[in-house]
Amino acid sequence: MKVVHTIEELRDQLRGQLHVSFVPTMGNLHAGHLALMKLARQHGSPVVASIFVNRLQFGPNEDFDRYPRTLESDIEKLERERDVYVLFAPRESEMYPEPQSFQIQPPSDLGGILEGEFRPGFFMGVGTVVLKLFSCVQPRVAVFGKKDYQQLMVVRSMCRQFQLPVNILAHETVRDHDGLALSSRNVYLSEAERAEAPRLYALLQRIQDQLKQGCADREQLEGEALADLSGRGWQVDYVSLRRQRDLGIPTAEEIRAGEPLVTLAAAKLGATRLIDNLEMRYGE
Ligand code: PAF
Repeated sequence: MKVVHTIEELRDQLRGQLHVSFVPTMGNLHAGHLALMKLARQHGSPVVASIFVNRLQFGPNEDFDRYPRTLESDIEKLERERDVYVLFAPRESEMYPEPQSFQIQPPSDLGGILEGEFRPGFFMGVGTVVLKLFSCVQPRVAVFGKKDYQQLMVVRSMCRQFQLPVNILAHETVRDHDGLALSSRNVYLSEAERAEAPRLYALLQRIQDQLKQGCADREQLEGEALADLSGRGWQVDYVSLRRQRDLGIPTAEEIRAGEPLVTLAAAKLGATRLIDNLEMRYGE
């Protein structure tokens, strides 16, 4: 695997390649990321991965400074798996040689809700860096995890509107043995918090079960999960049942008619903010 730090080196490595498959990450790689790289490899070659902690998508009170940066061990993991041909690990001055005054502004009905409401500027930061990374790598295929469900939708809709020739593939969320979605931020959890953390997914599964058994009362489903989390010390940003197609709020009729749904949740356990989601359907 070649490790390159500049756009020029990256372009040298990829010259003439027409089927590049790409996985953008912020590093501190875990099994979830490695699964994205495997999927990327099945859909194109060579596979390029990037590691770049993108300041633009962090709010002023978020964890940009303490976000885990583990380049050496990330490289070891990628070398072991042998799926990636080039790792692009640019410095900040390479990605942002001047203040990034041109920015991607996702539409508010997609980028201003849920994560966008609680992390203003987040999807602007993601959209902007993903577009820049796509312009550096020029992939035919790019792989994103479903754990960041809304991010996946923002990226897909950005590619559609800008007519970017990139096929966006989604990988299912990879979970630990107890259901906790793998995330680079899980390293922040204390032992007690780690033991509590799988509750988020368990409650999403409960909502899925309740829907399956014929409950179409969105507010009740969300409210019960929210109360359960709050009662156990979580600070909940949202637990929200949405339509898969546009993340809009489904009516009871749509729910009963079998509209494909997804419940998304974000909540803080101590100082660590976790997100998760689960796709579901009434009666199924
Ligand atoms: O999901 C992530 O790790 C980041 O948001 C991404 C897509 C690499 C952009 O910085």
